[in-house]
Amino acid sequence: MSRPVAMITGASSGIGRACAAECARNGFDVAIAARRTDDLESLAESIAGDHDCQVMVRGVDLHDHEETVRIVPEVLERFGRLDALLNVAGVADMTPLHEMSLGSLQRTLVVNTIAPALLVREAWPALVKAPRGVVINISSLASIDPLPGGGAYGMSKSAIEGLMRSIHVESAASGAGIRSFALAPGCIDTPMLRSALDGIELPDGAEIPMDEFVGHVMDCVQGVHDDFDGQTIFVAREGHFSRDVADTKAALQDLWGG
Ligand SMILES: NC(=O)c1ccc[n+]([C@@H]2O[C@H](COP(=O)([O-])OP(=O)(O)OC[C@H]3O[C@@H](n4cnc5c(N)ncnc54)[C@H](OP(=O)(O)O)[C@@H]3O)[C@@H](O)[C@H]2O)c1
Repeated sequence: MSRPVAMITGASSGIGRACAAECARNGFDVAIAARRTDDLESLAESIAGDHDCQVMVRGVDLHDHEETVRIVPEVLERFGRLDALLNVAGVADMTPLHEMSLGSLQRTLVVNTIAPALLVREAWPALVKAPRGVVINISSLASIDPLPGGGAYGMSKSAIEGLMRSIHVESAASGAGIRSFALAPGCIDTPMLRSALDGIELPDGAEIPMDEFVGHVMDCVQGVHDDFDGQTIFVAREGHFSRDVADTKAALQDLWGG
């Protein structure tokens, strides 16, 4: 029996990189995608060595629709199956809406929302065939609590949560058996966060340890959180985990005040 296969976008850095390593540690072969192929190759070398798994590296600019839709057929050609699609790649352009160019708005929505939807479309038949097909979408607390100056980012994250709910209802209506989750974290130390914070200090407890967050992602992949299928899981701070918006906003208020 072949190993299950996970495809992870945004695997050159931050959360995507950590998710790819965790999938490999949990017995998956992995297909890893992003633009920076040097970083993907170094990840591939380390996880293939550590976990004796197959790793497929795929350079892709998710802003390019034609490139995006070619990945899944290549994954299927290489591995013959796809069990988990992890839509992790994202961009956060911190430009106030009234100054935003059309190009920047489109880039945010394409990378954060349209590319994930195209990947879901392409992956759907394989996920239906998988014993426990799953789509993980990395959202953000910005979906319910957007940062000033990050309006397009918040819009895109609300939209990916909409995608997650649509996958859930369409899977249920057709008996496809595809599980669907969105995980919406607060602050995890990555290049994106450091750039968005631009020197702002985080209050104590605000930073979510990477291994804690990736543990939640893996629990969704592996069925531990199937009662959250079709819902957003908010992680506002270290130790927080909730599907409840009011509870999450209270946790944020507690952290940040205001
Ligand atoms: N860190 C946080 O606190 C935080 C909080 C909430 C949500 N998130 C979400 O978590 C996800 C991962 O972010 P991160 O914090 O791990 O940031 P990161 O370290 O900057 O990683 C972003 C990833 O997205 C990929 N990416 C960006 N544009 C791309 C494009 N056009 N084509 C292909 N890949 C592209 C990057 O790869 P290349 O540059 O190599 O293409 C990189 O691997 C994002 O969706 C982000 O919105 C993060």
